[in-house]
Amino acid sequence: MNEKKNKKVVVLATGGTIAGWASDLNAPHHYQAGQIGVGQLLEGLKESPHGIVSEQLAQMDSKDADHDFWRCLAQRCDYWLAQPNVIGLVVTHGTDTLEESAYFLQAVLQPRKPVVLTCAMRAANDPHSDGPGNLQDALALAGTGNAGVMVVCASDVHAAHEVQKVHSLRLNPFSSGDLGPIGQMKDGQFKRLRHPTRVHWPEPLPTLRDLLEHQPWPQVHVVMSHAGNDGSVVRAMQALDPPAGWVVAGTGNGTLHRALQEALEQAQRQGARVVRTSRCPWGGVQSRADDVFSHAGQLTAVQARVALMLALMAKK
Ligand code: SIN
Repeated sequence: MNEKKNKKVVVLATGGTIAGWASDLNAPHHYQAGQIGVGQLLEGLKESPHGIVSEQLAQMDSKDADHDFWRCLAQRCDYWLAQPNVIGLVVTHGTDTLEESAYFLQAVLQPRKPVVLTCAMRAANDPHSDGPGNLQDALALAGTGNAGVMVVCASDVHAAHEVQKVHSLRLNPFSSGDLGPIGQMKDGQFKRLRHPTRVHWPEPLPTLRDLLEHQPWPQVHVVMSHAGNDGSVVRAMQALDPPAGWVVAGTGNGTLHRALQEALEQAQRQGARVVRTSRCPWGGVQSRADDVFSHAGQLTAVQARVALMLALMAKK
């Protein structure tokens, strides 16, 4: 028996541009995400040193990701990670909400094996598609034994809690800010550039079981502070269908328009958890002496939304 082939990498496909199809190749930018199956994605790749198992979990444009999708994704990742002959996972995913799924999976699973999310900016039938190269890199990275959730795109490797999509068009749309990626893929080899930063988020996390049993997941909305934000959206939602939490993306170091501040303070008095972040892509927020809300440190607003939702599901 070939011992190496007994070790498996599992590919979980969820859709995205990497599985996208352009009906007119003269206009390859006009395509539909999530059209071709995982079998076709794997066709034509170089032979892997490990066995490959694949499963189609979803077939969607990741802008439409929802909590049912995350529930299924966490459950299937957990199942495969527990198999002794599985050395790592690859998740093919749309770029648009990839950073949210990556952060969610790292928080919930904290895996001791590699879980590598990958994607593409060009549809699968675009003659210059970047999908096959990214998938090949992801398969190689998933076989390296580096623990944790990572993202690979355009040869750059990012840690799940550091990565953000920062460009809507270019082939390398992700960034880990000033620190840069944690590593790079070259000729199927992973070169580590640095270790990931630590996440400061003092809130509890639910077990996977708590998470799967919780139905529905708590509603947490994101609102942005901006010129003229009079707090009316917060007040309207509080009157109509009050969410369990609000994440506010403030200006600079998480400062808020005073009308929005008042509306959120009232929401907090009514029982909602309110968490302050910054709408600046990097730098996060620091504590202030007059803080009336908790803050999410370095987390972005979409990460803080995930973190708060998870904290609300953790058993006291
Ligand atoms: C998506 O996020 O599913 C579509 C866009 C992309 O993959 O780049």
